Amino acid sequence: MMFTFGQLSVFTFLLSLFAVVSALPLALRDVFVPPVTYPHAGTVWKVGQHHNVTWDTTNAPVNITNKVGMIVLAKGGLLQDLANPLAKDFDILKGRFEIQVPNVTPGDDYTIVLFGDSGNDSANFTITA
Ligand SMILES: *[C@@H]1O[C@H](CO)[C@@H](O)[C@H](O)[C@H]1NC(C)=O
Ligand SMILES: *[C@@H]1O[C@H](CO)[C@@H](O)[C@H](O)[C@H]1NC(C)=O
Ligand SMILES: *[C@@H]1O[C@H](CO)[C@@H](O)[C@H](O)[C@H]1NC(C)=O
Ligand SMILES: *[C@@H]1O[C@H](CO)[C@@H](O)[C@H](O)[C@H]1NC(C)=O
Repeated sequence: MMFTFGQLSVFTFLLSLFAVVSALPLALRDVFVPPVTYPHAGTVWKVGQHHNVTWDTTNAPVNITNKVGMIVLAKGGLLQDLANPLAKDFDILKGRFEIQVPNVTPGDDYTIVLFGDSGNDSANFTITA
């Protein structure tokens, strides 16, 4: 089927209307993206150590969409080994979860990304061998 310009813009309009309407339920959810409080700038972790990643849950909405959290390591802003997160399936309202520092290349541009509804990353910190 061919569209004339007029039909095409009506079609586009309907499409965008549909996009807006179908996005609504998402916008109405209580999205909770807690800020990571540890590790913070200046933190140094050694490979193999255990540490509690912590985050601030004080602004948690009453009904949150996704209570299940996941913690992923990132280096230079790139998620590392998303298939093997440092932790997953924990209650994000707990505010902390103990992880073991994986055997990664030492660097000072690591961040921890906490996923719930969405992701929020920590400050850059250092991992040493
Ligand atoms: C992520 O956390 C920071 C504080 O560490 C906060 O300023 C920012 O708003 C958070 N991002 C989102 C998307 O909530
Ligand atoms: C992490 O926090 C829990 C609960 O407070 C504590 O029992 C545990 O020793 C902590 N782990 C580390 C590595 O500090
Ligand atoms: C939270 O969910 C419960 C049960 O669905 C509902 O009764 C309550 O009104 C909700 N509270 C808020 C603040 O949305
Ligand atoms: C971490 O450092 C990188 C540069 O290596 C920078 O692009 C990024 O914004 C920093 N992340 C944070 C959360 O400060």
